Amino acid sequence: IQATKGNYRHFMLKEIFEQPITIGQTLATFLDEFGNPSKGFGKVEFSKYKRIYIVACGTAFYAGAVAKYWFEQVAGIPVEIDIASEFRYRKPVLEEEGLFIAISQSGETADTLAALRHAKGKGVETLALVNVTTSTMAREADIYLPINAGPEIGVASTKAFTSQLTALAAFALNMSEQKKFLDKEHLAKLVKALTEVPDIVGETLQLDGEIDKMCLGLSHAKSLFYLGRDMNYPIALEAALKLKEISYIHAEGYAAGELKHGPIALIEPGTPVIVLAGQDPLLEKTVSNLQEVASRGAKVFLVADKKGAEIVGDIAEQIITLPDCDPFTAPIITTIVIQLIAYHTAVHLGTDVDQPRNLAKSVTVE
Ligand code: G6P
Repeated sequence: IQATKGNYRHFMLKEIFEQPITIGQTLATFLDEFGNPSKGFGKVEFSKYKRIYIVACGTAFYAGAVAKYWFEQVAGIPVEIDIASEFRYRKPVLEEEGLFIAISQSGETADTLAALRHAKGKGVETLALVNVTTSTMAREADIYLPINAGPEIGVASTKAFTSQLTALAAFALNMSEQKKFLDKEHLAKLVKALTEVPDIVGETLQLDGEIDKMCLGLSHAKSLFYLGRDMNYPIALEAALKLKEISYIHAEGYAAGELKHGPIALIEPGTPVIVLAGQDPLLEKTVSNLQEVASRGAKVFLVADKKGAEIVGDIAEQIITLPDCDPFTAPIITTIVIQLIAYHTAVHLGTDVDQPRNLAKSVTVE
């Protein structure tokens, strides 16, 4: 994949549409010819680690936040996650049996690199999950896992994020297998679900026109909320970040159950609230959170699977119905929708999508 826009209006849109291919490249890096997540990890014995520390910035941080759910649920290993600029200054207590994971598209972000060096200095094994193969983090970490998403030009990260997620999902499954944490059938089901992601992402991209229409309304908003539970929570955070970065609309991502502890005071008649409920294991609770905001006049938009769409019915202004997928891979599928929402809203507002104001692709100062 070359770094040209091709027929696309922006690099960001091209990179969003490339994802069935780039996710496929990431899968080919980590799954062997039988589809097992045993390739690309070298001979690393992941079962020896007692704990994982994940450190990253920006979008990469949210990939780590999703991975915390995966590592804990499928491999039974506790995960701590920190924003890189906070990590070393809070004097973290690091166990030597831990594994430190830095996640970074560029492999050059100053805060993440400093955190990696800090962990190394404390005698903890370090792993870098990085896109740019020639980067400093790729060189300095004890273990380097490439995500192979190809060059990402748009400042707002899209395909690197879904490749980070894909690599982390494969990694969690590899660890699960090494630790024999799940029974064989369950593990095989999750591995199969992961191999199906490129096709389902392709189907999700067909929602583009529908999402574009929805964004016409959103582009008038001063402020909006994204809500989600379980793995939809970190995706809500990434969704809000993506929208802020390129449309300059104030957006907040919230754990659906936490909204009542403050931010609900900001809901006025007409405030857009986008509820992410694809494959939500706590759907009923999310629906009651949705009703809470709807009854205060919020304009509710729902991104859900068929079941969620049926339950919510006419409370929502508009429903984006996701193709079927396994709950394990749902965060990757939902991501496609939130990327398109940010993109089309920004295009309706006429902002410089590929070069948003005040932002840099890679931040090499602390
Ligand atoms: C900058 C970029 C973000 C990116 C973050 C972390 O803020 O604008 O898109 O998520 O840095 O970058 P990294 O290269 O470490 O993933």
